[in-house]
Amino acid sequence: MNLILLGPPGAGKGTQAGKIISKYKIPQISTGDILRAAVREGTELGKEAKSYMNAGKLVPDSVVIGIIRDRLKHSDCANGYLLDGFPRTIAQAEELDKILLAMGNKINAVVSVEVPDQEIVNRVSGRRMCKDCGAVYHVTFTPPKTANICDKCGGELYQRDDDKEATIKARLQIYKEQTEPLKKYYNSKNLLKEVEGTGDINKIFNKIESILDNI
Ligand code: AP5
Ligand code: MG
Repeated sequence: MNLILLGPPGAGKGTQAGKIISKYKIPQISTGDILRAAVREGTELGKEAKSYMNAGKLVPDSVVIGIIRDRLKHSDCANGYLLDGFPRTIAQAEELDKILLAMGNKINAVVSVEVPDQEIVNRVSGRRMCKDCGAVYHVTFTPPKTANICDKCGGELYQRDDDKEATIKARLQIYKEQTEPLKKYYNSKNLLKEVEGTGDINKIFNKIESILDNI
């Protein structure tokens, strides 16, 4: 199963991705996670991406397309994959179509998680992530059992540099301008599945499951 998870910053893509990959046994490919790892490691890619990310802007298309082209060649993608945070522009979507055509592969569904703006600001400003395994928490909605320690691996939790209120607003604006048009793009290909992303995390996953079990 080859999937795309679409949605504004803080919609719960990473949260739902964790559940999807565990049930369907496919790898999660998050361009955000890949870029953050590169920033942490101080690689050339990280140096290039850092200023865009901290300003809430998109990293240039050519950079992320290169990441995805390489990543899809890995053997763990042979039985499917979940793209989280890619594509994010029409140019990225068109390039993805070309890459997949050349590989004899195609997307089976695009799940778009819908959440209102105010809820997004609340969610993102309280988010904490594990430095080691990337697990996602929220200080109020989904706190870890011990403050600042990951339940899953014992790693330290941190706040992302781009999770400050002004940056969140910039990211939301960019989502509306550059990423939301992808809904129309994928709807015209009959791939778009919109899911209401507010409320209980498990109930949201149940809605996603019922879509994926039928494709
Ligand atoms: P990226 O890492 O992809 O960030 P994003 O799209 O802004 O999305 P987030 O990761 O912020 O949110 P999410 O939807 O995963 O929500 P989460 O599950 O964590 O990208 C970061 C940056 O990298 C970009 O700004 C850009 O610079 C660059 N980049 C990445 N991909 C790129 C691309 N393709 N092209 C160009 N640049 C790219 O949940 C959020 C919080 O809410 C958590 O605290 C969680 O616990 C909580 N939560 C989740 N669900 C619920 C719920 N139902 N109820 C209550 N709380 C909830
Ligand atoms: Mg995420």
